Amino acid sequence: MIIDKHGRPMNYLRVAVTDRCNLRCTYCMPHENMQFLPKNEILSYEELLRIITVFTELGVNKVRFTGGEPFFRKDFIDLLEYTSQLEGIDSVNITTNGVLTQPYIDKLKKIKDLKLNISLDTLVAEKFIKITRRNAFETVMKTINDAMENGIQTKINMVVMDGVNTNEIIDFVEYFRKTPVNLRFIEQMPFNEHENFKSVWTVDKISNLLSENYNVVQQPIQPQSTTIDYKIDSSDFVIGIIAGFSRSFCGTCNRIRLTSTGRIKTCLYADPGLDVRALIRSGSNDAEIKERLIEAIQQRHKNGFEAEEQRSKQVFESMSKIGG
Ligand code: 5AD
Ligand code: SF4
Repeated sequence: MIIDKHGRPMNYLRVAVTDRCNLRCTYCMPHENMQFLPKNEILSYEELLRIITVFTELGVNKVRFTGGEPFFRKDFIDLLEYTSQLEGIDSVNITTNGVLTQPYIDKLKKIKDLKLNISLDTLVAEKFIKITRRNAFETVMKTINDAMENGIQTKINMVVMDGVNTNEIIDFVEYFRKTPVNLRFIEQMPFNEHENFKSVWTVDKISNLLSENYNVVQQPIQPQSTTIDYKIDSSDFVIGIIAGFSRSFCGTCNRIRLTSTGRIKTCLYADPGLDVRALIRSGSNDAEIKERLIEAIQQRHKNGFEAEEQRSKQVFESMSKIGG
C-alpha cells in the first residue's frame, strides 16, 4: 500500500475513461462546439488495463469509473467487468449520467459489490433540458428505476445550484425516501472554465434547510468518506452531503485520480501531475511506472486549499476531463 507524506494510505483510484459526454450540463461544459480530445490522446483499453493493474499491485482495492460519461465509450463495459475480476479489487463503482446505462443493467447486476452513482439534478423534465441541454429525463428515470428493481446499490447525486434547483432539495428527499437509494447533495465546485460561479450552497446551508423540514440526525463521520450523512425522522433513509467545496474531508482522503489522457491528479484542486501515458508510450516497464507513481503520490498536498493555492492555472478544468 502506498502511504502519502501526510500518512494517508492510497487505496482508491478514480479513472476518467473519456472526456466525452452525451450531455452538456451547464456547470460542466460550454454550450455547443465543445472541443473533445482526439482519440489517440485518450488512454486506450490496453493502457487503461495496464495502469489499473499496476495500481492494484500498489494496493489499490477500489476503483471508480467516471468521465465524461463512461458508457459513451463502447469498450467500457468490458473494462468494468475485467477490472472487477482483477486480483485485489474489492469493489468497482461507476459515476454515470444514466442516459446510456439502462441496456447494461443485466450485466451490471452480475458484478459483485458494484455501486452505481447516477447524477440527477432535477425531477422536472423541462428543467432537465435546461440544465443538461439534452432531452433525456425519462431515460434517466428509467435507468434509476431499473437499477433499483434489480437490487443494484444506487446513489443519486444532485449538484446543488443556487437559484436553479435548491427549491427541489425537499422534493428529492420526498421522492427518494420511499426507495432503496442513497441520496446525496453535492456542493457545487468551481470546475467550469466557461461559467461564472455563483454563491455556493454549502453543507451547512443544505443541512439547515433539511432541519427546517425534518427531524435531522447527523451520523458519525465514516473514515475516508467525502459526505456528511444524515438520517431524517428516525427512518433508515440516508442523505449525504458531499463537501466538495468546503473540503472538510481532506485529512483522510485516500483518492487518486487518473485523467482520460493519463495524467495523475493527487487532488481534485491540484494541477494534473505525472503523465503516465507518456511513460507507457515511451516504453517504460511496470517497475519504472510504479516508482514514478509512488514519487507522485509522495508529493500530494495536505488538502484541497493548499492544492488550490499552489496551482498554476487560475481556472479549473471541467469535471468532464478530470472525472467527478
Ligand atoms: N460541482 C460539483 N459536482 C460536479 N459534477 C460535475 N461538475 C461539477 C461541479 N462543478 C458532478 C456531476 C456528477 C459527477 C460526474 O460530478 O454532477 O455527479
Ligand atoms: Fe456529462 Fe457529467 Fe459533465 Fe453533465 S456533469 S456534461 S453528465 S460529464
